[in-house]
Amino acid sequence: MSEREISSAVIRRLPRYYRYLGELLENNVVRISSKELSIRMKVTASQIRQDLNNFGGFGQQGYGYNVEYLHDEIGKILGLDATQNMIIIGAGNLGQALANYDFDRIGFKVIGIFDINPRLEGLAVRGVEIQMVDTLEQFIKDHEIHVATLTVPKKQARSIAKQLETWGIRAIWNFAPTDLHLSEDVCVKNVHLDESLMTLSYNLRHRGKEKYSYKSYMED
Ligand code: NAI
Repeated sequence: MSEREISSAVIRRLPRYYRYLGELLENNVVRISSKELSIRMKVTASQIRQDLNNFGGFGQQGYGYNVEYLHDEIGKILGLDATQNMIIIGAGNLGQALANYDFDRIGFKVIGIFDINPRLEGLAVRGVEIQMVDTLEQFIKDHEIHVATLTVPKKQARSIAKQLETWGIRAIWNFAPTDLHLSEDVCVKNVHLDESLMTLSYNLRHRGKEKYSYKSYMED
């Protein structure tokens, strides 16, 4: 089966497998059966087998999964085996908080942070100096950057995203609360913490009315 046919629901579940397998590795667990993994992850063993069969299985009858191998393979499927240099546009509260976080461990290295506020120029966040946006185009070209994080005010987000596209950015991790209209060549992943909070609010309001299912666990 080609990767193009993999459902987005399966892709969304892969990071959770990756995280659990990483924890098992840290605890020196060498192999695990789909049953044991299913108990830990609170999903059914058949769901795990079905998900992993999309990529050729990885398990062996009677042995289960080799934790390190499966962790590495899922990492490769997710593209985490190569380092991606990343830039952050908008060095305010959120931009700086993200710049301070260690995304290197999953292969994303922040090498540039940009803003329009001259008071921020030269300020280092986790060793990376904030630069003014007028150097952005050249920086993207010089460093062959393909991934940008967008943490600018909503009003500026669309036009900046368009510019980033023309300068060669191919993936945008968008935190601005607006939909970006870009060509299909650019992958956009929107992150909206308040939407997550709204669903938490819903769950709180409706708590006890519905059983918390395996399915909702996996959709988190
Ligand atoms: P902030 O005001 O602290 O930071 C915004 C920064 O963007 C400022 O430093 C400003 O100078 C800079 N900026 C403005 N225009 C720019 C441009 N043309 N080029 C480069 N930089 C520019 O705001 P905060 O709290 O950091 O929020 C940033 C964005 O993230 C906002 O759109 C906000 O709504 C959004 N946000 C999203 C969240 C989410 O869960 N998706 C959570 C919190 C904020």
